[in-house]
Amino acid sequence: MIHARIIGTGSYAPKKVITNHDLEKMVETSDQWIIERTGIKERRVCEKGETTSDLAHEAAKHALHAAGIAPADIDLIIVATLSPDTHMPSMACKLQARLGAKRAAAFDLYAACSGFLYGLSTADAFIRSGMHQTILVIGAEALSRYTDWEDRTTCVLFGDGAGAAVLQRHAGKRGILSTHLHSDGSFGDLLHIPAGGAAHPATHDTVERRQHYIKMKGNETFKVAVRALEDVVQEALDHNKVKPEDIDLLVPHQANLRIIQAMAKRLNMPMEKVALTIHKYGNTSAASIPMALDEAVRNGRVKENDLILLEAFGGGLTWASALIRW
Ligand SMILES: CC(C)(COP(=O)(O)OP(=O)(O)OC[C@H]1O[C@@H](n2cnc3c(N)ncnc32)[C@H](O)[C@@H]1OP(=O)(O)O)[C@@H](O)C(=O)NCCC(=O)NCCS
Repeated sequence: MIHARIIGTGSYAPKKVITNHDLEKMVETSDQWIIERTGIKERRVCEKGETTSDLAHEAAKHALHAAGIAPADIDLIIVATLSPDTHMPSMACKLQARLGAKRAAAFDLYAACSGFLYGLSTADAFIRSGMHQTILVIGAEALSRYTDWEDRTTCVLFGDGAGAAVLQRHAGKRGILSTHLHSDGSFGDLLHIPAGGAAHPATHDTVERRQHYIKMKGNETFKVAVRALEDVVQEALDHNKVKPEDIDLLVPHQANLRIIQAMAKRLNMPMEKVALTIHKYGNTSAASIPMALDEAVRNGRVKENDLILLEAFGGGLTWASALIRW
C-alpha cells in the first residue's frame, strides 16, 4: 500500500505580540469579550519589513531539518496562503529560490483557512499517483497586512504565522489515510476581500472605502462552520470505519475556541486530545493547522501509529478533513 507520510514538520511565528489589552487601546473592545467569544488572548504580527515568505522560509527550514532531507530532494513546493507577498511571482517560487530547491516545481494554492488541507490532499494525490516522491506543503499568512485595524469585528481575530510539512512516498500502513475537500461558493460573501483583484482593481476609492481588508459576517459564518465541520468529520470517520474514540489527537483549524469545543463535544473527545494554539496565535488561516500540528509533534503529543484527525473551514467557503496514521 502506498501512502504519503509526513516525515517532518516545522513552524514559525513572528516575534511581535499584540495582546487583547493592546487592542483595547485601538478599538472599542475588551479582553473579556475577546476571550469569551473567541478564546484568543494574544496574536503575533509581522514587524515592518517582515513578510509572509520570511515566515514560510523559517517554517520550511525547520520542517526540512526535522525530516532530515536537503532542499535538492524536494520535487514540489505547495504554498497555501491568502496573504502572499505579491500576486506574482508566487510564494512557492520565492521559497523555491530561497531554499535552493533546484529540482522543485512550485505553485500557490488559494483555499483560505482550508488551504493547508487542500495542499495536503493535493500532495497526497501527486505522491500516490507516482508523479512525485517528496513534497513540501506550507501554510503561511501575514493576515495583519489584510486586517482593518479600525474594524473591531475582525481585527481581534487574526494573526500571522507559518507551518510546514514534508511528505514522502511510503510503502506501508502509515501516512495520510484519507482527505475530503468541499466548497460552496454561494456563501463567498460571508468572508472576503472585496478589492485588489481583477473585479475591483486598486483605486483611491477602493482604498478610501477600506475594500482591501478582510470582511467577515462572523455570526453567519459561525453557524455554517459548525454544520460543515460536523459533516466533514463524520465523513472522515465513516470513510475509514473508525470511531471517535479511536482518534488520538484532533488538530482543528483555530478560528474560534467555541467552534473547536463544539467539535470536541460532538466527537465526545476530552479537550486534552485537542491541539490548541488559538489563545496565543489567534486565527492564522492556512497556517493554523500546520502550526498546531508541529507544536504537538515537538511536545511529544504525537506517537508512531497515532490516529490524527485534521479539520478546517474557511473563506470560499471551503472545508476539509484529513485522517493520518502517524
Ligand atoms: C467573529 C465572532 C467571534 C463574533 O462572535 P459572535 O458571538 O458571533 O458575535 P456577533 O458578531 O453576534 O456580535 C455580538 C455583538 O458584539 C459586538 N462585537 C463585535 N466585535 C466585537 C469586539 N471585538 N469587541 C466587542 N464587541 C464586539 C457586535 O457589534 C455585536 O454587538 P450588537 O449585539 O450590539 O450588534 C464569531 O462569530 C466567529 O468566530 N465566527 C466564525 C469565524 C470563523 O469560523 N471564520 C471562518 C474561518 S476563518
